[in-house]
Amino acid sequence: MSEDLRSVMRYFATGVCIAATWRPTGAGERRHNAITVNSLASLSLDPALVALSLREDSEFLADVLLSGVFTVSILGADAEDTARTFAGRRPERDRMLREVRTHPGAGTGALLFDAAGWLECRYYDHYTVGDHVQVIGEAVALGTAAEPDTTPLIFLGGGFHRLDTESAAS
Ligand SMILES: Cc1cc2nc3c(=O)[nH]c(=O)nc-3n(C[C@H](O)[C@H](O)[C@H](O)COP(=O)(O)O)c2cc1C
Repeated sequence: MSEDLRSVMRYFATGVCIAATWRPTGAGERRHNAITVNSLASLSLDPALVALSLREDSEFLADVLLSGVFTVSILGADAEDTARTFAGRRPERDRMLREVRTHPGAGTGALLFDAAGWLECRYYDHYTVGDHVQVIGEAVALGTAAEPDTTPLIFLGGGFHRLDTESAAS
C-alpha cells in the first residue's frame, strides 16, 4: 500500500477524549493513568457498549486489562492543552493529573475530567485488530456537562480545532 492510512484519515473529523484507568499497586492502592484518544466508537445502545482502539504495546491497555475499568471524558474546545499533555510522556501526564481538576467515578474509581460528556465503563471484551487492540466497555454511568452549550474539541488534519458555531447554526 503506497499511501499511509493516516494521510486519508486526516480528513475524518473526530472528537477528542481523555481515557483514564488505574492499576492496583502492591500497597492496595491505585496508580491512575490517563491518555488522549480519538478512537472512541459507539457500538451498541442496549447494552450500552463503546470501544477504544489502543496500541498493542500500550501501557494504558495493560492497565485497563488489570483493573477491568476505564472512563472516557469527551473534551470541550478549551481543553487543547490537556489533550496535548495526555498524548505525551508519562511524567508530564502524571504531573498534569495532579494539576487539573479530576474526580474518581463512583462506578469505577477511574478519574473523570471536566468534560462535555463522560462515560464510566466496565470491561466487556477485547480483541486484537492488526497492531491495535479494541477494548469494549459497558457504560455503567454517563453524563453531560452541566453547561449545555459546551462545544467539543475537534481533531482534524493532524491538529486541534474549534467548531465554527456561527456557520454550523445557519
Ligand atoms: C488526538 C489524539 C488521539 C489519539 N488517539 C489514540 C487512540 O485512540 N489510541 C491510542 O492508542 N493512542 C492514541 N493517541 C496517542 C496516545 O495519546 C499516546 O501515544 C499515549 O502516550 C499512549 O500511552 P500508552 O503508551 O500508555 O498507551 C492519540 C493522540 C492524539 C494526539
